[in-house]
Amino acid sequence: MYVQIYKYEKQQMSKMNQTTAKTTIIMGHPTPESSLANKTIIEKVEKELENVEIRKLGALYPDYQIDVEAEQQVLLESDVIVLQFPFYWYSVPAILKQWIDSVFAYNFAYGREGDKLKGKAFIVSTTVGGPQEAYHPTGYNHFRMDDLLRPLEQTAYLAQMDFRTPVIGHGMIFVPGVYNTQEEVINRATRQAERLLSAIREAVPQPVQ
Ligand SMILES: Cc1cc2nc3c(=O)[nH]c(=O)nc-3n(C[C@H](O)[C@H](O)[C@H](O)COP(=O)(O)O)c2cc1C
Repeated sequence: MYVQIYKYEKQQMSKMNQTTAKTTIIMGHPTPESSLANKTIIEKVEKELENVEIRKLGALYPDYQIDVEAEQQVLLESDVIVLQFPFYWYSVPAILKQWIDSVFAYNFAYGREGDKLKGKAFIVSTTVGGPQEAYHPTGYNHFRMDDLLRPLEQTAYLAQMDFRTPVIGHGMIFVPGVYNTQEEVINRATRQAERLLSAIREAVPQPVQ
């Protein structure tokens, strides 16, 4: 009896996942058309994931005037929210900061009635120019990536979101003849996309086979 009920519940859950689990990816790149790493990641995820919406901030808002209502509406309908961005000066690009500052508003993300993002999975996925060993107390960047991403982690906690392990890709800068080959960056970005896909699938319960 118990097994039957359990099975039934799992089936219902699996139906719900297939029909309703929605992922929104906020691509926080100021100029998405000139991106190599983030573009590679977005294209692969878009091809392989069902029910995903990509918001390319640099294309939607070249003047940095974020449509707060539209962005909040998309988040309300999402189960998994991904911030996908190139790491700029140990932080998020200005356009993504602008998006966070205006969209994570009082009574939406925090405050007395600010529970609209509660329970949603939150995944930070960033492409980083420098190598992994540089992001260490003995490296030239001194701090670990986990530490540099703390402001986003705490943002998730304040908004009562489910902060997942960040997905980080190193060696993503491409400057012809100076830093990496195009092929190296595309290969690394493709592997990061695979790790991101796994992180998204782990964040929502899986359909029963
Ligand atoms: C304005 C700017 C700031 C950057 N700051 C950093 C940094 O702090 N640390 C780092 O490792 N790479 C840094 N980079 C390198 C970028 O992270 C890298 O070029 C980017 O992730 C590649 O992604 P894309 O091909 O999608 O543009 C910076 C690049 C730019 C343009």
